[in-house]
Amino acid sequence: MNYIGSKNSLSSFIRSTVQDAVGDALSTKTFADIFAGTGIVGRSFAPLVKSTIANDVEYYSYVLNKNYLQPYLENDASSYFDILNNLAPKQGFIAQHYAEGGTADRLYFSKENGGKIDAIRSQIELWKSTSEITDVLYFHLLASLLEAADKVANTASVYGAYLKKIKKSAQKPLQVIPMVDRNDQGENLVTFQKNKVYHEDSNQLIKKITGDILYLDPPYNARQYGANYHLLTTIAKYDTFVPKGKTGLREYYKSAYCRKNEVLDSFSQLIADAQFKHIFLSYNNEGLMSQKEVEKVMSAHGSYQLETKKYRRFKADKTENRNHKADSTFEYLHILEKK
Ligand SMILES: C[S@@+](CC[C@H](N)C(=O)[O-])C[C@H]1O[C@@H](n2cnc3c(N)ncnc32)[C@H](O)[C@@H]1O
Repeated sequence: MNYIGSKNSLSSFIRSTVQDAVGDALSTKTFADIFAGTGIVGRSFAPLVKSTIANDVEYYSYVLNKNYLQPYLENDASSYFDILNNLAPKQGFIAQHYAEGGTADRLYFSKENGGKIDAIRSQIELWKSTSEITDVLYFHLLASLLEAADKVANTASVYGAYLKKIKKSAQKPLQVIPMVDRNDQGENLVTFQKNKVYHEDSNQLIKKITGDILYLDPPYNARQYGANYHLLTTIAKYDTFVPKGKTGLREYYKSAYCRKNEVLDSFSQLIADAQFKHIFLSYNNEGLMSQKEVEKVMSAHGSYQLETKKYRRFKADKTENRNHKADSTFEYLHILEKK
């Protein structure tokens, strides 16, 4: 999934920096990723560590992390996917409020895909409420639907707005395929259910968990994830509410990490409460907290180091001067070994 602040392309840098700093065998450690988003960092550590904890305040992220970290390992689920992919479109909440031809004509999805999402989402819920499927299979089907819906969304990338015309990729019929992390041999990367997944504010959760390695990847700026991914929440929860305004926004959680006057206090409290020896924070040079502010907070609790990686923020135009300042940004990995 194309996600703001995704660490997909930085995960090997993060993995090798963590490995160098932690030293001992990772296989004996508990790794926690408590601003997990798509979960890509926790998912890349899960096969290497003893157990993983993932958390995010957004419900769609909880669904994704349940699927990837507590994967469905039982019988082949393809018969369920076949049924879902052959359902006739249905006029439901998504078709009505967020698709072409709906009452508000919000073009987040084509008419057909809006109806498909409703049909599939309702069927998954029916199977769950009649105990036809286990919780593990429920999250597997639901996460697979979220990923499939995101692929055919008619947006530039986030759900803060939709495009005026249905773009090519959004015209393709939605197809739900089993979302599983696999290695090059096609085997499941995560082969057990013992990982833990939470859906809480990190500052609350941190008081209840302990472990060895804590990875923090909070938002960097004022863009609230709840607003930018509201439609994924709506598909995941499939609740009813009155969509607001042109974009059909729902009520959403407002994170202190997106507020200039609250972020430093929240971060300081989080670090103070963390019961982990090794703490890593991803942040970039354009974040609400400066590098010096972060350093001050972290070094008050132990020995601090900084790793920096330069990367290109935009897809570079080949004719552009590659050394141009606005073209690149720095990703920091702040490292704390707590006393
Ligand atoms: C930079 S993104 C994480 C990206 C993730 N590492 C990835 O690669 O997909 C920040 C995440 O923090 C979550 N978040 C924001 N405030 C939070 C809070 N107070 N507690 C828990 N999660 C929070 C957001 O929902 C978002 O998914």
